[in-house]
Amino acid sequence: MDKPVFSKVSSGAGQLMDPFHRQITYLRLSVTDRCDLRCTYCMDENVRFVPRREVLSLEELDRLASSFVALGVRKIRLTGGEPLVRKGIDWLVQRLGRHLQSGALDELTMTSNGTQLPRYAAQLAGAGIKRINISLDSRDPQKFREISRIGELSSVLKGIDAALEVGLKVKINMVAIKGFNEDEIAGMMVWAHEKGMDLTLIEVMPFGDGARWLPNLIGLDDVRVRLGDRFTLEDIPARTGGPARYVKVRETGGLLGLITPMSGNFCDGCNRIRVTCRGRLYQCLGHEQYVDLRATMQEHEDDEALKEAIHQAIAAKPKGHDFAERRSCGTPNVKRDMSSTGG
Ligand code: 5AD
Ligand code: SF4
Repeated sequence: MDKPVFSKVSSGAGQLMDPFHRQITYLRLSVTDRCDLRCTYCMDENVRFVPRREVLSLEELDRLASSFVALGVRKIRLTGGEPLVRKGIDWLVQRLGRHLQSGALDELTMTSNGTQLPRYAAQLAGAGIKRINISLDSRDPQKFREISRIGELSSVLKGIDAALEVGLKVKINMVAIKGFNEDEIAGMMVWAHEKGMDLTLIEVMPFGDGARWLPNLIGLDDVRVRLGDRFTLEDIPARTGGPARYVKVRETGGLLGLITPMSGNFCDGCNRIRVTCRGRLYQCLGHEQYVDLRATMQEHEDDEALKEAIHQAIAAKPKGHDFAERRSCGTPNVKRDMSSTGG
């Protein structure tokens, strides 16, 4: 196992470098843990949301995101829960759009469940968002209801169309679950590609109630082999710095992404950091340790202390998650829900 090289940790103003020489350029910022769906792998049935007084205000979210931009973050993804159920999200997106205009930020994007997009798609595009990830695990209304507990498939489909109509590039995220939506994968891919969207498959991770799906884990390598019987899958060498590997499907011309947190080496090129809606910076999706940036922001009016806290947190970023080890030891999974960390 590689040893951390603390001497190489940058303390300069312009960049964030972790102990494993991974430069942190990508912030995933959760703007709320609330959601209008209750996906079983994401939330407990009786999920308890963060008390509202502990949730960062819109101004704090802007301040935090802007400090990360000042420290060299080039891409921000707004996540949730469902980011579009946060009141004032349109204001925040507009505000953050100024970093796109100034050139300080390359990309502002979002992961959404799609239900609120008929209302917001045009505003998102207007603020400079070009691409959006929309979660959709099944195109069967019954199954969609089962996995989301309370969702209507039609509202997501309307949201997808609204995003496409305003010119957003859409990527569909599908959590692949054995015995549930395995048989829909090829159909989902063809449908997405026909509509000009990419599809990313995600192995289910052991968050909260997600642990109960683990026996239904599908190794995406197997999925790839099976799809390979019907389609010509061409490797795309360049990785995006993220955990997804992409292949191009020759017959459809679309991209298929595979995110394999459970079976693949997901962490090696990790350039990202997550902040929850209560201002907790998690150095890694798979670890419980965090740094409370909300407290720092509230104690200090200027941003220097905040930037210092961010630097220190990144200097302690672990090498990777340990889902697999914990799974084989039978010890509990990560206790927090995905909804509180952001997908
Ligand atoms: N495992 C894998 N993916 C998850 N997501 C949420 N919870 C899990 C989990 N336990 C994904 C959703 C969505 C994004 C917000 O995170 O599918 O695409
Ligand atoms: Fe909501 Fe996304 Fe979690 Fe489903 S996976 S409950 S849509 S945040």
